[in-house]
Amino acid sequence: MGKILVTGGLGFIGSHTVVELQIKGYEVIIIDDLSNSTLDILDRITSITNNRPEFEEIDLKDKSKVKSFFQKYSDVIGVIHFAASKAVGESLEKPLMYYENNISSLVYLLKQLKTSNFIFSSSCTVYGQADSLPITEDAPVKKAESPYGNTKQIGEEILQDVCSNNESFNAISLRYFNPIGAHESAKIGELPIGVPQNLVPFITQTAIGIREQLSVFGDDYPTNDGTCIRDYIHVVDLAKAHVIALERLLDQKGQSNYETFNLGTGKGSSVLEVIESFNRVSGKKLNYKIVSRRDGDIVAAYADTKKANKILGWQAESSLDEAMMSAWKWEQQIRNES
Ligand code: WQD
Repeated sequence: MGKILVTGGLGFIGSHTVVELQIKGYEVIIIDDLSNSTLDILDRITSITNNRPEFEEIDLKDKSKVKSFFQKYSDVIGVIHFAASKAVGESLEKPLMYYENNISSLVYLLKQLKTSNFIFSSSCTVYGQADSLPITEDAPVKKAESPYGNTKQIGEEILQDVCSNNESFNAISLRYFNPIGAHESAKIGELPIGVPQNLVPFITQTAIGIREQLSVFGDDYPTNDGTCIRDYIHVVDLAKAHVIALERLLDQKGQSNYETFNLGTGKGSSVLEVIESFNRVSGKKLNYKIVSRRDGDIVAAYADTKKANKILGWQAESSLDEAMMSAWKWEQQIRNES
């Protein structure tokens, strides 16, 4: 059946996608530089699927290592590219690190590829604050609010140019909304290093006692309850969409050799609604306070998912409550283990 290369395969979305690929019968080889993950995740994936993926510790900025990887693994039939730095705030402090890590690695990878099936991990960040909601794939890509977001826009443009220059190269960019939650086994999940930037891991770490209190960044936005709205999608729903998108390429079903799809639930939830959902599923009463707005936050974003529903035949299945429950189970599990 040939191998699927998953770069960043030990990361949050990458590890969940490796599990879904293996469940579907694919042989997986992971490249990860372990800058934002640990080898322990490889054991965790194996404990879920009883099938240990092959693994190479490679920094994709190392051209010679990327070259020798493809000399060693000539049977790669598809690539899912997650490997990238992804902290919005950090990218504002270290723009060159983001451009080097996220763009150079993509270029070196594309230059060495022997296969022509490529899935790119993109983000709803490319839309900025969209003019209308829900957001469709043909909403204008706006000036990125951060170097991180810009690397996603540039990545998509690089792929478009490679595809228009080489019709035998096929790529799909998947624009994620807000991935949350964890695998039902509670063996893999989101593992932020240091103080979490994202809402849901901060909620679960507050509830378990690692963080004192959640700060809600502003309740004076023009929304029902004044807090920002996002489209929170269960990471396993997201992972399943990657397998479907890859199979669209392998089966050469693409209407063109470059496509983009929004991956969200199509439903917007405010910060306070996420907190209510957490309290409902956990039986806890989360300790939070309202503070001032966070720079760079947009008011609202949620996906129009009709294209992915219709063309990929995919739709998110888990509710916000189910996703929050899985995040809470995962938090409890890892704290019990430590
Ligand atoms: C969600 C909402 C915050 C933390 C980012 C990236 C995006 C993607 C997902 C990679 C916002 C509020 C948050 C907190 C809060 N990452 N919040 N207190 O900013 O929508 O998206 O992560 O692809 O590209 O931009 O996610 O979870 O940081 O914030 O009130 O301690 O929760 O203001 O309204 P965001 P988030």
